[in-house]
Amino acid sequence: MANIDFSKRDSFGSKFGVIAATAGSAVGLGNIWRFPYVAGESGGGAFVLIYLGFILLIGVPVMLSEFIIGRRGQQNAFGSFKKLAPGKPWYLVGLMGIIAAFLILAFYSTIAGWTLEYIMQSITNSFNGKNSAELKQSFEIFQSGTFRPILWQLIFMGLTAWIVFSGIKDGIEKSTKILMPLLFVLIIILCIRAVTLPGAIEGLEFLFKPDFSKITWGVVLEALGQAAFSLSIGMGALITYGSYIGKDNNLSTTAIQVSLADTAIALLAGVMIFPAVFSFGLKPDEGFGLVFIVLPNIFEQMAGGYFFSIIFFILLAVAALTSTISVLEVVVAYFVEELKMSRKKATIIGSVSISAIGVFCTLSFGGLSNFKIFNKTVFGIFDYLSANILLPIGAFLIVIFLGWFLGKKVIVDELSNNGTLKNRLLGLFIFIIKFIAPVAIAMVFLYSTGIIKL
Ligand code: PHE
Repeated sequence: MANIDFSKRDSFGSKFGVIAATAGSAVGLGNIWRFPYVAGESGGGAFVLIYLGFILLIGVPVMLSEFIIGRRGQQNAFGSFKKLAPGKPWYLVGLMGIIAAFLILAFYSTIAGWTLEYIMQSITNSFNGKNSAELKQSFEIFQSGTFRPILWQLIFMGLTAWIVFSGIKDGIEKSTKILMPLLFVLIIILCIRAVTLPGAIEGLEFLFKPDFSKITWGVVLEALGQAAFSLSIGMGALITYGSYIGKDNNLSTTAIQVSLADTAIALLAGVMIFPAVFSFGLKPDEGFGLVFIVLPNIFEQMAGGYFFSIIFFILLAVAALTSTISVLEVVVAYFVEELKMSRKKATIIGSVSISAIGVFCTLSFGGLSNFKIFNKTVFGIFDYLSANILLPIGAFLIVIFLGWFLGKKVIVDELSNNGTLKNRLLGLFIFIIKFIAPVAIAMVFLYSTGIIKL
């Protein structure tokens, strides 16, 4: 068996690099594609409020917990658990994360492929002169095809594999540092256009005015799943990234900054989408295609829309890419460190096998659209199962592991960088991960599955 020298593990180069890479993982299609479609299907304002509550109460603490476990364990998601809890079955949490990574990347790459198609369509000016119904129709024709969406998906997976293969520092950090702030600026410009459309107010009300009659336990579970998915928590992506974070990084600050940025982008994506949805006479519960139908509509209504649409879809693809690399990295780090593969072999095996499953997700919108299990397509099942089931269970086990198994001394060491930093919120953090977060997650599960009834 080859000997692996963990002291030679790659790591992030700078403090900003850590934030850029973690924010790169968090900010992605989850914010701009998934948040609007789930919020739209879940009735808007009340969902958004519950989602925000979960970010604060569960998201930030779980993110911080993952950083602690990763930096302490200095290994991949599976290996970190094995090292910190030798001889105990906690590594199964890591294994579950690796399975979640497979599922997420399989369906995520479908949508990521759509962003590439939309870069192409922007460049060739194909939104030009189309009304809202025509834009919707051309999206549906593309989406239900076979060759094009699969080709884009595979190209996207290839890009992801290439960056993951080229290593942590060079690949991940460099690309995110410049492009993420640019995406933020562009979204703000689009928000301004959206809220000045006729009838925009209806969209803002939909997004921000809570109507609690729309809340069911199913919606609460959606909000929890969306919070977990958006912050990249619950599957060890941030354990893996945590293991690359330097000993002098202030983990609490990083977790708070990344969560804030992620939440801000999701809300802004909502402000960009919903006013336009109502203004163009579309429906908020359009589903998976929502963003791809609405955005071209906005560009059509904008001075310089041609130019903006190209840049926007390029940035969206990059945002997706900085997320997919973090998901693939979970798998690759595991293959390299546990199964002793070379980084190259690990990347190839990981990306090829995920792509093979991913093709079925893409076909869920075309040839396989009638193939349903529990009334969901393959795509729908992967999306639901990973975000709403695996990530919350992962998050639950992660806080239990840190709060009840690793315990206070490890937490204090890691949060204070061995006594050099002050931590005013330490007590609150420990209380949340020991009691509040696990109880809240368990309750949402028991109620939404109907195991407990009110
Ligand atoms: N958070 C990413 C997004 O919002 C998706 C993701 C989920 C990445 C889980 C890593 C792990 O697009």
